[in-house]
Amino acid sequence: MPRPLPPGLQVRQARADDVPSLATLLSLTPDDGTLYQYPHVLKYPDDMHLDWLRPLVHDPTSLIRIVVVPVDGKDKFVGFSCWTRQEADPLDPTKTRPAKIAAEVPVADEVEKDITNDSPPSEEQSEVLVPNEARAAAIERGRKRGSPSPAKTTPCYELGGLVVHPDYQGHGIGSLLVRWGLDEAAKERVPVFVGGETQGVDFYEKALGFQRLSPTEFWLDAEGRDITREEVKSGNEGWKKENGGVSGAELVWLPDGYVFELDNEVYKG
Ligand SMILES: CC(C)(COP(=O)(O)OP(=O)(O)OC[C@H]1O[C@@H](n2cnc3c(N)ncnc32)[C@H](O)[C@@H]1OP(=O)(O)O)[C@@H](O)C(=O)NCCC(=O)NCCS
Repeated sequence: MPRPLPPGLQVRQARADDVPSLATLLSLTPDDGTLYQYPHVLKYPDDMHLDWLRPLVHDPTSLIRIVVVPVDGKDKFVGFSCWTRQEADPLDPTKTRPAKIAAEVPVADEVEKDITNDSPPSEEQSEVLVPNEARAAAIERGRKRGSPSPAKTTPCYELGGLVVHPDYQGHGIGSLLVRWGLDEAAKERVPVFVGGETQGVDFYEKALGFQRLSPTEFWLDAEGRDITREEVKSGNEGWKKENGGVSGAELVWLPDGYVFELDNEVYKG
């Protein structure tokens, strides 16, 4: 059982002035996909994250939900999830299009404040963050090689990002953020899709009942080379995190009784 949720926890849609804190949180919590080779490296706030978050916070087809908890009279920013919703395209019902999901966020001057209360990184920690570009490119290839994302053809909710501050993991915050989308999807009787790498895949599968879509699975070694399903089965462990590799998959969560098919594989809710 996770520890109890921190007292005073609040969940709300992100505002424009939350962007720097959000970027900081993302920098503090690299995911397994691209950056885990540099877990000791922190940079504040990361320009790469700022660049994609700034327009996203105003996009009504993306919903950024954040978790804040009161610490010493200030809001500490401890979690984030990003959702989109795909609806049937009225011009071509075999396809989907992004639907409005978020309230309008007024354009405000972005305040250079950091409500995470984290002290600046030490000199040792502030080495330049070097994204593992070979790894990122290999993951992109892995994703493209599998079936195209089912969200392009199936009305659904899609989880595009999930992060919980390292000091607050294990309190049920990640589950709380994901369950919101599962509840919305259950009401509308549509699936929820998420792409995950290593620890994300385990979390969505074991903690939240997602199912791995096997045609989308991929395994990469430390140099970003593909390892085939057959090689994995015959004991190649180059994809394991401790060996510098990574694996990933698209996962689906289905409402009760919903049946979903992808490349002749059937998944049931
Ligand atoms: C993955 C992550 C979001 C989980 O958030 P969290 O708030 O710590 O998760 P919760 O406290 O809600 O955990 C709920 C349950 O999931 C389990 N769990 C958490 N992380 C897990 C993991 N990586 N693998 C398997 N189970 C996991 C917990 O042990 C807990 O189980 P319990 O109820 O039996 O005790 C968080 O660890 C994180 O931000 N990681 C870094 C970023 C990342 O990998 N995001 C996923 C993107 S692909």
